[in-house]
Amino acid sequence: MAADDAPRGERVQKVLARAGIGSRRACEVLIVEGRVTVDGRTATLGDRVDPTAAALAVDGVPVPTAPGLVHYLCNKPAGVVTTASDPQGRRTVLDLVPAEPRVFPVGRLDYETEGLLLLTNDGELAQRLTHPRFGVEKTYLAEVVGVPTPAAIRRLREGVTLDDGPTAPARVVLVQAGTGPHATSALEVTIHEGRNRQVRRMCDEVGHPVRRLVRTRIGPVRETRLEPGAWRVLIPAEVRALYEAACAPGPTVTPQ
Ligand code: URA
Repeated sequence: MAADDAPRGERVQKVLARAGIGSRRACEVLIVEGRVTVDGRTATLGDRVDPTAAALAVDGVPVPTAPGLVHYLCNKPAGVVTTASDPQGRRTVLDLVPAEPRVFPVGRLDYETEGLLLLTNDGELAQRLTHPRFGVEKTYLAEVVGVPTPAAIRRLREGVTLDDGPTAPARVVLVQAGTGPHATSALEVTIHEGRNRQVRRMCDEVGHPVRRLVRTRIGPVRETRLEPGAWRVLIPAEVRALYEAACAPGPTVTPQ
């Protein structure tokens, strides 16, 4: 075969398998079942694509295939800013992960907030995860002053009015109730909005200021083994699950 006649691009099933969707054989089955699209058109077995340019999707959920994409999960410690650079010279979350390839944080955590933060150069995923339309859930563990009453917890669940409007229904669980005059308690709060200092302001509003705040879950991604300041690469199944969560229509928190 002359060089000009050589097939161009890579088989769709090979590209999907490399992206962690499944084995090549499993990806062939997806193609035969009509569940794979390339640039919006249903793929057929034998199709070839340029993985740097084609938009692949399985069941309507995009599959990132461009080479060089990285997805990191880090455990942000307190005292680190979630910006690319800080005029005050404080440590930023970019100091926690490799400098190359250049990544950016997905959403933000306050300077004092700890816990899970995604960093990536995958603009499509970042945009979807932060878009209010997709309302991906985030769970926080909040150490609060005092012992919230059932009425306070109900208010947090149903929505409280902040200066930028009412909060949407949330899941709130009293994980631990303190005792004594200087008691603090632990609340697990799950929200799907990404408003500035939202959990702190919600807790303030019901009279239980936050002493410590830790994000423990981002949509389908949980992690308890990362030391503060440590990071790891997301496995393909986690990237896929994030894309699925970020493509589901509408907010996913159901009130209790
Ligand atoms: N809610 C807050 O109050 N702070 C954060 O960093 C994240 C959510």
